[in-house]
Amino acid sequence: MEQKICLIGKGNVGTSLLQLLNEKKEEIMQKFHVDYKVIAIFEHDGGLINKTGINLQEVLNKGKDFRELSYWNPGIKALKELGNLDANICIETTPTNPDNAEPALSHIIEALNNKINVVASNKGPFYLHYEKIKKLAQENKCSIRYEATVASCVPALSVKEGLIGNTITSINAILNGTTNYILSRMTSEGIEFSIALKEAQELGYAEADPTLDIEGYDAAGKLVILANELLGWSRTIKDVKIKGISHINAQTIELASVDELVIKHLAIAENGKLVVEPRLIEKDSPLNISGTLNVIELQTKYAGPIILIGRGAGGFEAASAILNDMINITIKQK
Ligand code: HSE
Repeated sequence: MEQKICLIGKGNVGTSLLQLLNEKKEEIMQKFHVDYKVIAIFEHDGGLINKTGINLQEVLNKGKDFRELSYWNPGIKALKELGNLDANICIETTPTNPDNAEPALSHIIEALNNKINVVASNKGPFYLHYEKIKKLAQENKCSIRYEATVASCVPALSVKEGLIGNTITSINAILNGTTNYILSRMTSEGIEFSIALKEAQELGYAEADPTLDIEGYDAAGKLVILANELLGWSRTIKDVKIKGISHINAQTIELASVDELVIKHLAIAENGKLVVEPRLIEKDSPLNISGTLNVIELQTKYAGPIILIGRGAGGFEAASAILNDMINITIKQK
């Protein structure tokens, strides 16, 4: 079975996905009998289109200079071309725009209106316009999956399928690697806030505008997606009470430590409320994870707590989640 893929966004995540598809081509063919053929790759300033299939190795060999390829078409826009491509799956990996979710929102709407299934790693459309997107997908009988939007490769959303006979009642989580890294470094090494932030930025975890991490907006967006997906709520980021970590200093951390407590930036969905704020937790709590890790503790009605821990960001981490979604969509079509 052939599946034609249109990729929008060739940054870290998009490029890692191309690499995965290239590396795993034979394996995917053998295991799932699917040939994922990338027919278009778009960036903000142009794109590559080859309806018989783009040579991924050639694109990857070019690295950041892929615009030097002879068939690079400057100025073409994904939004205009989507309807003419006859693609089966559109992959949206552009950077998140927290104000209006654009251009990702328009890309997703255009893909769905053209009956193209969607896989996205961009969080904005889902924490701002969840209902609208879900409805549109349903109307057009399309699949839309976005595992990579929350904790990248950690199966935070698809865990729902594994708990289909249970009931998830609340969520306690750490969903932002940058703030967790900062608080961990301040706690274990006594490092100052600004230095720890700089380190997190160097690791490539922080958003382009790190205030989105520090002030809790990134975690709040992910919490909305989790709550809508796992608890069946219907919220947007405007419904979250958000408090960041910029006021936390060495003294606060020291005081907590005297009582065997640590400060963690928690994202909580319970009793109908959504909260992101620094909270004191026991040192031996399963939520006391260090570094850039994410953790998600789900309370279930029939089996107590279930805890997922893993890397919440990174090119290959997100790309592997995207590939999972692609395979899931394809398998369900068969
Ligand atoms: N800035 C985010 C974080 C990246 O620190 O977790 C992943 O969404």
